[in-house]
Amino acid sequence: MIRYKRLIEMDFYMSDSKKYYVTTPIYYVNDKPHLGHTYTTIACDVLARFKRLDGYNVKFLTGTDEHGLKVKQSAEKAGMTPQEFTDQVSQNFRDLCPAMNFSNDDFIRTTEDRHTRSCQHLWKILEERGEIYLDKYAGWYAVRDEAYYAEDELSDGPNGKKIAPSGAEVEWMEEESYFFRLSAWGDKLLELYERNPTFVMPETRMNEVKSFVKSGLKDLSVSRTTFDWGVPVPGNDKHVMYVWIDALTNYITAAGYPDDMGEYWPADLHMVGKDILRFHAVYWPAFLMAAGIEPPKRVFAHGWWTIEGEKMSKSLGNAISPYDLIERYGVDQSRYFLLRENPFGNDGDFCHAHAINRINNDLANGLGNLAQRTLSFIYKNCDGKIPIPAEFTDNDRSLLKKAQEGMLGVVRRELDVQRFHKALEAIWDVVNAANVYIDVEAPWSLKKTDTVRMGTVLYVLTETIRCLGLIVQPVMPESSAKMLDQLAIEAGERSFDSLSPSKSIAAGTQIPQPQGVFPRLVEEEKAA
Ligand code: MSP
Repeated sequence: MIRYKRLIEMDFYMSDSKKYYVTTPIYYVNDKPHLGHTYTTIACDVLARFKRLDGYNVKFLTGTDEHGLKVKQSAEKAGMTPQEFTDQVSQNFRDLCPAMNFSNDDFIRTTEDRHTRSCQHLWKILEERGEIYLDKYAGWYAVRDEAYYAEDELSDGPNGKKIAPSGAEVEWMEEESYFFRLSAWGDKLLELYERNPTFVMPETRMNEVKSFVKSGLKDLSVSRTTFDWGVPVPGNDKHVMYVWIDALTNYITAAGYPDDMGEYWPADLHMVGKDILRFHAVYWPAFLMAAGIEPPKRVFAHGWWTIEGEKMSKSLGNAISPYDLIERYGVDQSRYFLLRENPFGNDGDFCHAHAINRINNDLANGLGNLAQRTLSFIYKNCDGKIPIPAEFTDNDRSLLKKAQEGMLGVVRRELDVQRFHKALEAIWDVVNAANVYIDVEAPWSLKKTDTVRMGTVLYVLTETIRCLGLIVQPVMPESSAKMLDQLAIEAGERSFDSLSPSKSIAAGTQIPQPQGVFPRLVEEEKAA
């Protein structure tokens, strides 16, 4: 009966407006996945998993950005056709999903038919509405950035070449081009930012975007004639679409555009790195509003990782592969470290010594040890059965309240503003409180003096571990599953509505022989 009622509640949530659509940027296929790409997708995966467990109907999208001159040139270098090249390299990003335990519901490639159709439809609408017109373009173009720069943004580089602020070489280009009337959308964009002050986060980024828009917008060149590796402009095959209009459109393609976009659009969150914020926070909402489509609800720009103090770059050869991380630390440990170490939104420096310390302190010694100590004690001393609690003391109640009631609300609030480090801090407050509790209550001493009280203490600890196991699922899906298996928690009892006193672990539950979940990393002494 209870189960039936919960099913109805779930259905109700699903059909209600509890939906969550989160996207990663689509990755350029001229590079192998590295720490930077992995970081963006981990953050989105954690949000997607959290929202699913919190009763939302989630769509989590990632994919690859496969058009443009840069890709065409990389394909030529590799001696392949652009299609062969993109098929191969896109697969590297697809393979990363299971390797990193990403729970994406879709993987989009901009070379897919559904996407060509969607881009061409959007283009036609924009053209019909007079938002796109044909003209000539002359200017300084950086192939590496797929972007034009104004003369006053350039500096002199070696060999008499001019250099863009990004460090890319630019060359003079002249071409017939279609333009999008971006200049007409400044006020509407500023209104959008006023109406929705968290449209861009963090706040400092919102300010940057506003001042960029206030400084005046120029019309944007949105087609190219100098190469053909792109979505053809409908009605004028000489042109392919500018790679950014093509790329950004992926977010609506995957929601079903140009057919019914159903319940997912507008996206709740586009997660991006700070380098591509302008495209998402200025161009994209302008394209959408111009086509009569609602803009997304939020664009969050996270910071960049440097590696042991240096910029991560191909030429320095210091890019960290996600597979190195998995091998050195494990999937869950890497996911945890990247989100815990650095305030999300800020730049951060990746350092192996810090990773080892953090993983050993928080996971091996903190959460892992708490579970291992408690469960092996029960296994050895209580016939492997969760003891029956007697009356709770204030100390018991205080820990239980934190775990069962306090934690979820804080984590939910922090994740709703993408403060992953704060969410994890709140969870580790409970881990630390439980470790203090076990030392103060000392069940090993109670074994000799008061076995009834010992049972109560062990019950409180087990229940706390159950709550911790539930709440860390989005960040560490595999390890949390092991923890919950060790407590014999059924698959259907693992969503966040189980984080409540009414769903407390049943006394008498038989647990299997406990196994350590977070091994201690041995390089600590060397690295410290
Ligand atoms: N293809 C475009 C996105 C189009 S979205 C409609 C693109 N691709 S990318 O592969 O170059 O970058 C994808 C993401 O990786 C960006 O969000 C970028 O910020 C992120 N990172 C790349 N290097 C990074 C670090 N060193 N650190 C953190 N993130 C970084 O841009």
